[in-house]
Amino acid sequence: MGKLDGKVAVITGSGRGIGKAIAILFAREGATVVINDIDIAPAQETVTEIQAFGGKTAVCVADITKAEESQKLMDTAGEKFGKLDILVNNAGITRDALIPRMTDAGWDTCININLKGTFNCIRAASKYMMKDGHNGRIINVTSVAGLMGNVGQINYSAAKAGIIGLTKTVAKEWASYGITCNAIAYGFVDTRLTREKETGEEVMGKKVGIPKKIRDMMIMQLAGKVMTPEDAAKPVLFLASEDAAFITGNVLNVTAGLYM
Ligand SMILES: NC(=O)c1ccc[n+]([C@@H]2O[C@H](COP(=O)([O-])OP(=O)(O)OC[C@H]3O[C@@H](n4cnc5c(N)ncnc54)[C@H](O)[C@@H]3O)[C@@H](O)[C@H]2O)c1
Repeated sequence: MGKLDGKVAVITGSGRGIGKAIAILFAREGATVVINDIDIAPAQETVTEIQAFGGKTAVCVADITKAEESQKLMDTAGEKFGKLDILVNNAGITRDALIPRMTDAGWDTCININLKGTFNCIRAASKYMMKDGHNGRIINVTSVAGLMGNVGQINYSAAKAGIIGLTKTVAKEWASYGITCNAIAYGFVDTRLTREKETGEEVMGKKVGIPKKIRDMMIMQLAGKVMTPEDAAKPVLFLASEDAAFITGNVLNVTAGLYM
């Protein structure tokens, strides 16, 4: 018996990192998972990994900053599998710069993907979730930056703080359907967004990551324990499960002590 047997879940940005780990864990726990990413190849890779252990899955390549693509994503669950039980709004990026150097494009891209994308997906999911006795789950991924701010992340901190307000509003508006909506605030998870910037990956034409000096300081604060995406996925499973039926409108801090 899996904790999510019979459930249908959409996980945005599940081609890589934390989203991929959530999708694999959900599928192992019996959920049918709709994989989404803006990039085709990693999304397909997640699907292949899930199919390899007999998990049920489908893919929808979509850009969540676009309302019609977000709808197409929710329709993949609704039309292929007949329902949508769990939505994990995980897709996000960083576009770091100090305030005077923050460009309009850096601000807009970060707000659009993290905040507007989350809203787009929730609005699109309403077609399948706003039903009496639905008992659904929405989990929005936020960050310590949204709780305490962060140097060089004015755009990201604003977007992630916005996700917390949005989470509480959904929790209130949709409580009557039995839907819970919570946020998870991560501290430091080992993905391309947190590797050393100097040698880091480019995402949409800009290097992501954390400068080595700051990264080393953060890791020291965590006593050398860096969370893996697999570690980060477990609390999402908890919030998606029956065990969390009475938890809504909360922010669960999963920061290994970075924020308390
Ligand atoms: N890594 C950390 O330490 C950390 C800390 C706090 C919060 N977070 C948050 O966790 C979430 C996952 O981040 P990650 O570290 O796994 O990053 P990641 O870059 O490894 O994965 C994010 C995925 O989202 C996809 N994506 C980006 N824009 C998209 C769009 N418009 N539509 C659909 N998919 C899109 C990317 O292609 C990528 O595959 C993000 O919301 C991030 O802000 C991460």
